[in-house]
Amino acid sequence: MPDSPLSGALEFARMLAAGGFRLDPLDAAPSIEDVRQLARKRLPTMAFDIIDGASNHELTADANVRDLAEVTFRPRWMTDISRIDTSTTVDGMELERPYIMGPLGLQRMIGGEGEMGAVRAAGRANIPFTISTASNWAMEELAEQATGPIWYQLYMYKSQTIVADLIARARAIGAEVLVVTVDVPLNGKRYRDHRNGMSIPPKITPRNAVQAIRHLDWTRAIMRPPAIGFRNLKDQIQGDNAVSHQEFVAKYLANLSLTWEDIREVRRQWDGPVYIKGILTPEDARRARAAGAQGIYVSNHGGRQLDSSPSTISALPEIVDAVGEEMTVVFDSGIRTGDDIAKALAVGADLVSIGRAWGYGNAAYGERGVTHVLDILDGELELAMGQLGATSIDALDRSVVQYPEAWHGAGMHREPEPAHLSMHEGTAR
Ligand SMILES: Cc1cc2nc3c(=O)[nH]c(=O)nc-3n(C[C@H](O)[C@H](O)[C@H](O)COP(=O)(O)O)c2cc1C
Repeated sequence: MPDSPLSGALEFARMLAAGGFRLDPLDAAPSIEDVRQLARKRLPTMAFDIIDGASNHELTADANVRDLAEVTFRPRWMTDISRIDTSTTVDGMELERPYIMGPLGLQRMIGGEGEMGAVRAAGRANIPFTISTASNWAMEELAEQATGPIWYQLYMYKSQTIVADLIARARAIGAEVLVVTVDVPLNGKRYRDHRNGMSIPPKITPRNAVQAIRHLDWTRAIMRPPAIGFRNLKDQIQGDNAVSHQEFVAKYLANLSLTWEDIREVRRQWDGPVYIKGILTPEDARRARAAGAQGIYVSNHGGRQLDSSPSTISALPEIVDAVGEEMTVVFDSGIRTGDDIAKALAVGADLVSIGRAWGYGNAAYGERGVTHVLDILDGELELAMGQLGATSIDALDRSVVQYPEAWHGAGMHREPEPAHLSMHEGTAR
């Protein structure tokens, strides 16, 4: 057919038909940032900000992402990359990939099925899923849906009976690692939540009401039974919903007198690995080790606790140098790409924990959204490894990255700690 507008249109139609139609918004979301934008569209601002927001001016949350961009790769071409192996072994656990899904509580507040779909997505991908103490489903309910490894994250409340009960139940559901979060003796102040009226009790603002009406899917989901609450604690605390539960936890369960001695007690109750989540200095890393922990999470809670804490990637080199030989070091906070995973491992982490990344997927499309996020991370990690000439996780070492020397503590003014604080540092028992 001679060139004509009709032949052009036919050719275009043929091309479209060959490629197939793209109706699924996830197909047009090649990055975690795209998934985040989908989540932003699907949720009212007050709900999106619960997951996206951080404390105060969000300096630390921003720094987590910005500093990961400061790590640059040193590619190594012309190596045989026909087979790339992302598997790794951590504390005797064989993992297909060098990352896990970290604990995110309050997942029903973002709509859908909350943690339920996420735990199924983790199982299908055979990625460890960390159940949070603050999850909106009880650990037994989530474990029933799990087909992959389960880890359990513990908040150490004031009541030793409650803590002992949580630990015993975590053992009963077969959790492989006990992750003890130590950076929440006090809740960070999250400006976005305050502005949105997401305080306890929540305030009904005209904006929230309008948004709830404009996001009916979300509104229906959060009203579905059972009432949203801390179901891990439902038999021990008063009230039957998130507001009464949070009030109860803040008033009666928050423990302001915790010390490293309490970790020793937890250690006695748990046979498997104990990892301490929230470490930002070599000093605390050594204390965790002296208290008997096998691992630490270098984490600032995604910038949701003490604002102006260092970014985790800038804190990582010094901590790895201090305890990396004897402890498992998990990197947490700021991971948004598979490249970020490669960077954290190259700087010295043994494993990476993802937080908001899977939360955005869950907020956007529940289980399917989480699966999409895991696929993105897997694809990007393998692509980065291939381009770095690193065919195994072991090959991701400091020779494939460069980053500021100051992250080793050089050129930073810092007074040593007073002697009385150092007394807990010692050797692991
Ligand atoms: C919505 C939300 C809920 C969270 N809930 C918990 C929790 O219950 N326990 C915990 O140890 N950390 C919790 N975290 C912190 C994450 O485990 C993780 O440290 C943080 O999200 C890492 O930063 P990133 O999101 O930038 O990767 C939560 C984070 C978010 C965003």
